[in-house]
Amino acid sequence: MVFNEEMIRDSLRERLIGGDIFFLETVDSTNTYTQELIRKGAGGGSVIIADHQSKGKGRFGRSWFSPAGTGLWMSVILKGIGNETSANTVNYVCILSVVEAINDLISIKSEIKWPNDILLNKKKICGVLSEMVSSENEKNLVIAGIGLNINQTLDDFPAELREIATSLRIISGSEYVREEVIIKILKSLEKNYRLAIDEGTDFIFKKWLKQCTTVGKKVRVVTSERHFDGIAEAVKPDGRLVLRDEKNEIKEVTPIDIIQIIEYIS
Ligand code: BTN
Repeated sequence: MVFNEEMIRDSLRERLIGGDIFFLETVDSTNTYTQELIRKGAGGGSVIIADHQSKGKGRFGRSWFSPAGTGLWMSVILKGIGNETSANTVNYVCILSVVEAINDLISIKSEIKWPNDILLNKKKICGVLSEMVSSENEKNLVIAGIGLNINQTLDDFPAELREIATSLRIISGSEYVREEVIIKILKSLEKNYRLAIDEGTDFIFKKWLKQCTTVGKKVRVVTSERHFDGIAEAVKPDGRLVLRDEKNEIKEVTPIDIIQIIEYIS
């Protein structure tokens, strides 16, 4: 047993999230595995945690570096909130929850880089990959895949990631008990998911926006066809980034269109 499963289960009794928790030593991708579980009947609130992923999936078709013994590679099945047919709200809930959990664990403040990255000291510590799925019973399920770097040292990352990635341990100099991090994140997820149900999407979006540092920055957004340079003026609740370009024209980019966002200083 890699994780102290009892410790995690005991902390999450009688909750919306974590009623069913699946622990895996290794898997291709927890998101892919979760799709299969949903086909077999798994429902909202189930959590899938792996110690290692051989084909961890990132956004934009990239791979996600997921070595054993160091990080958190987890998928959570969440029922979509309200009638919406996109994963937006659930996505905001997940990112916000990880940010709040990280801010509880470490003295440096983490920030959200639109649309889905969490940064610490300007480097990426966490990514979220939300995928919509439907089962026979449920039309509106979201698989929220969370990848958080916890105990990696700089040497643990491949050379191409050393400049852009970080971990809780690199920043603080101390090792973390992964179970404690998992419990913190799942409790935070429970709190914000309930808030989203009770208070609505707009409430959660505004909380998310307070932690998002992209607005006001000069950015280059790269889509598969072209790139846009401009000042990030706003993010709309549906996830679109509003940019003002050099000709003072307004452009809107959806998270689905982009393949990369590069912030730079003018
Ligand atoms: C990103 O590119 O920023 C998103 C990365 C998401 C990685 C997580 S790790 C757990 C889950 N399973 C996967 O295959 N991907 C997500």
